[in-house]
Amino acid sequence: MLKASIVGASGYVGGELLRLLLDHPEVEVKQATSERFAGQPAHFLHPNLRGRTDLRLVSLQELGSCDVLFVALPHGQVAPRIEEFAALAGRIVDLSADFRLHDPADYPRWYGWEHPAPEWLPRFVYGLAEFHREALREARYASGVGCNATVINLALWPLYRTGVVGKTVVEVKVGSSEGGAEPTPASHHAERSHVVRSYAPTGHRHLAELLQELTFDGRRPDIHISVTSVELVRGALATAHCFLTEDLSEKDVWQLYRQTYEDEPFIRIVKVRKGFYRYPEPKILAGSNYCDIGFEREEGSDRLVVISALDNLMKGAAGTAVQAMNVMCGLPETAGLEFPGLHPI
Ligand SMILES: NC(=O)c1ccc[n+]([C@@H]2O[C@H](COP(=O)([O-])OP(=O)(O)OC[C@H]3O[C@@H](n4cnc5c(N)ncnc54)[C@H](OP(=O)(O)O)[C@@H]3O)[C@@H](O)[C@H]2O)c1
Repeated sequence: MLKASIVGASGYVGGELLRLLLDHPEVEVKQATSERFAGQPAHFLHPNLRGRTDLRLVSLQELGSCDVLFVALPHGQVAPRIEEFAALAGRIVDLSADFRLHDPADYPRWYGWEHPAPEWLPRFVYGLAEFHREALREARYASGVGCNATVINLALWPLYRTGVVGKTVVEVKVGSSEGGAEPTPASHHAERSHVVRSYAPTGHRHLAELLQELTFDGRRPDIHISVTSVELVRGALATAHCFLTEDLSEKDVWQLYRQTYEDEPFIRIVKVRKGFYRYPEPKILAGSNYCDIGFEREEGSDRLVVISALDNLMKGAAGTAVQAMNVMCGLPETAGLEFPGLHPI
């Protein structure tokens, strides 16, 4: 059994990591940290885990060595401590943004700080198995992924990889758990409930991950995103308006997506004519590691609409991180990730 520990286990992503790793057939959870709640049972923060573990949270000072360390701290909190964490574990999956971008110059631009450990950036593989499976097999260090970046990256990868798309404009609707467990005036129930709030019409930081991951043969993607907060706890739904440079039929698009994703255990192409779940919806993905992708070709124009959905805490964070660990450690890729979600919910 691999011994895994979680740093930042009191948070939403840390809680999901704990839920997944406690049920993982090849993993034993060794320690889980919180500074504010050290000494408390983990189920005090994550009541769904009541009766499933006796684990008590510990402070970072008490953290010992383990085989795999998952780090789920806010961005900017991991890079300054990376040597400390690397001394404790042979493998690290960091869910923050601190090691997602390869170019140190991207950190002042998108995050507003100079990277304190730029020499570590090339040691991290961007932890999305669908894109970097081979590199992850050899990696000791993997980054996590941005949730909004992932719902878009997975939707657009088949198009940008083959160079059949020019400009793309994406609207992403997101749930409140994207903001983490720390309350703010904006997350107060009276302010957050029932909103349809433009959160980032331009300039969302996850654009940096799109520009990085969707560049092929030096072709930088012409992509623009807007993010809107909606009445959801979990989930992200991306609607991408893709302007094609080749006149692809619906059948061509089907083939492209099928060829790209047919062997992927967590990507489902969702496009049916009947019923009301005809396109991807985040609601039925809560707790699952799936990213569902659908599309519709507009007749008489060059527009292809691609729709994708995932659970931001799962495929957008903890699920992808566990998937990356499975690949890095030579375990079956779907181990611990087979929960299909709930219906109705
Ligand atoms: N939420 C999402 O949908 C999502 C998706 C993808 C990636 N992520 C990334 O995952 C990471 C965690 O996100 P989250 O949503 O779980 O956030 P969160 O709910 O706010 O949890 C943050 C965790 O970090 C700890 N922490 C905060 N400041 C700390 C500090 N200065 N030193 C040590 N520990 C500290 C907190 O523990 P204490 O109990 O000690 O305060 C808590 O356990 C972030 O980097 C985020 O960008 C989040």
